[in-house]
Amino acid sequence: MQRIDGKNLAAKKQAELADKTTQLKEKTGLVPGLVVILVGDDSASQVYVRNKERSALAAGFRSQVVRLPESTTQEELLALIERYNRDSSWHGILVQLPLPKHIDEEKVLFAISPDKDVDGFHPTNMGKFWSGHPVMIPSTPAGIMEMFKEYGIELEGKHAVVIGRSNIVGKPMAQLLMDANATVTIAHSRTKDLASVARQADILVVAIGRAKFITKEFVKEGAVVIDVGMNRDENGKLCGDVDFDSVAAVASYLTPVPGGVGPMTITMLLEQTFEAAKVSL
Ligand code: GUN
Repeated sequence: MQRIDGKNLAAKKQAELADKTTQLKEKTGLVPGLVVILVGDDSASQVYVRNKERSALAAGFRSQVVRLPESTTQEELLALIERYNRDSSWHGILVQLPLPKHIDEEKVLFAISPDKDVDGFHPTNMGKFWSGHPVMIPSTPAGIMEMFKEYGIELEGKHAVVIGRSNIVGKPMAQLLMDANATVTIAHSRTKDLASVARQADILVVAIGRAKFITKEFVKEGAVVIDVGMNRDENGKLCGDVDFDSVAAVASYLTPVPGGVGPMTITMLLEQTFEAAKVSL
């Protein structure tokens, strides 16, 4: 079994991005700017946001994190987004999800200018992506595609099973795999006999949010397994949706948690912000 080292690949790509950012600044004076808005105090979100800020600064970007209290109203949040939409010195706007229950997520995602929607969650960007004209692509599945490329993992004609149907991961992952000529099955928590569906996969992408749920009984010998999970185990330690030790015995490639998909998500977010900055010139 070969471990797919997302941390290493992300570091390599972010170093390249830092060079490109220096060149862009020298040539044009432009510095890519990413603003991240976090509402409330979800503990996982705090970690994600901190990592995004650190990576953006390391790439030479301008970076701002706006931390708002749980009690922030939808109107206040929409007004803030509008301010950043109009400010040409910011090229990417990301509102960290999940939002507090009293805020309508769809309204918020719709309010972000599609040109600055580096998450790719705006309906316009989703529609373009699904109809074969991608502009902004959700970062997590984009990062997974980079891993396949880096490790020479062929997708054409393969059966890919995606477990999870979220707008953030499952659905866009399926679309990218189809674009790469894989045959795609989307499974989820209500799928009957999930293990036997998963065992058909040459490529298995897991995003169900249940700690160490996927054991070797779910995996065909030689399959490529990508773990998008981010959970805490019984000892409070970070772990994925895949039971690494069990699946390592049968998989050909496997991503660890931490150090797998997570760092690549951030890399792709920064690359997309860089591209949005260039387009703004
Ligand atoms: N929450 C979990 N993943 C993501 C992501 O990729 N983007 C945003 N905005 N929120 C998230």
